[in-house]
Amino acid sequence: MSCVMNSDEVRMWVYEETLPNGEKLTDVINQTNENVKYLPGIKLGKNVVADPDLENAVRDANMLVFVTPHQFMEGICKRIAGKIRADAEAISLVKGMEVKMEGPCMISTLISEELGINCSVLMGANIANEIAVEKFSEATVGYRQNREAAERWVQLFYTHYFIVTAVQDVEGVELCGTLKNVVAIAAGFVDGLEMGNNTKAAIMRLGLREMKAFSKLLFPSVKDSTFFESCGVADLITTCLGGRNRKVAEAYAKNGGKRSFDELEAEMLQGQKLQ
Ligand SMILES: NC(=O)c1ccc[n+]([C@@H]2O[C@H](COP(=O)([O-])OP(=O)(O)OC[C@H]3O[C@@H](n4cnc5c(N)ncnc54)[C@H](O)[C@@H]3O)[C@@H](O)[C@H]2O)c1
Repeated sequence: MSCVMNSDEVRMWVYEETLPNGEKLTDVINQTNENVKYLPGIKLGKNVVADPDLENAVRDANMLVFVTPHQFMEGICKRIAGKIRADAEAISLVKGMEVKMEGPCMISTLISEELGINCSVLMGANIANEIAVEKFSEATVGYRQNREAAERWVQLFYTHYFIVTAVQDVEGVELCGTLKNVVAIAAGFVDGLEMGNNTKAAIMRLGLREMKAFSKLLFPSVKDSTFFESCGVADLITTCLGGRNRKVAEAYAKNGGKRSFDELEAEMLQGQKLQ
């Protein structure tokens, strides 16, 4: 799903699906104020309008929030290129990267290059259904040069239960959000093999060290301090304790590797994707 904010209205592009009872997901969201498939039991604000038409959803928007699984991002950008406001600001909550023949491409770079607009990122220990019930969490906005744009995003997202800090390290923040999902698979294996908490803590410590080394190899500008923000150590911990990659990797190890990740993803995640 991608959200588009325009004054008080939040237009949310929703990839249209037909629910088992034959109704369209967007119709149900607009009638009930609830995303019954992906966030059941949570009332969205009345100003959130679900729109199945991507081009209509982004038209005239001055702030674009991207929060779609990474594998769909390139296609989405190509569809909306040239159809958005030239002065629009973007932010990506998407974790992952496009791996191309010429090397990895961060999603914020993909958005900037395809759409010709500035793109910040927001990452952190932010499991969606906990935030939805207003449990306290922190998040990190990563920005490249435009501090004013970053401050606007901080203002927009900040609440008493969602504390947002901006750092000038877009690649560092984005790589933290991406690479912790790999460490979470190792944490899931540790759980599935019942190796205990000491081993899991070692996986997290070594994983964080490798995340830092790998990030700096890709982008020497990445800052050490970023790994101590919410996007770094905090997101790593929450993902290794509770995330979906951990859960499916645990099942994979428990089944002795005899059931594939694809099969377990379809069975365990109810339409959500591994990251
Ligand atoms: N769920 C979380 O707690 C959380 C927290 C922070 C960041 N994120 C990031 O947000 C992004 C989206 O995660 P998610 O958990 O909302 O989604 P997900 O991975 O669970 O996938 C389900 C979503 O994908 C959409 N979808 C399915 N097919 C599609 C298609 N062909 N084209 C476009 N969209 C399609 C569905 O409408 C649904 O919104 C990911 O990059 C994730 O890392 C998620």
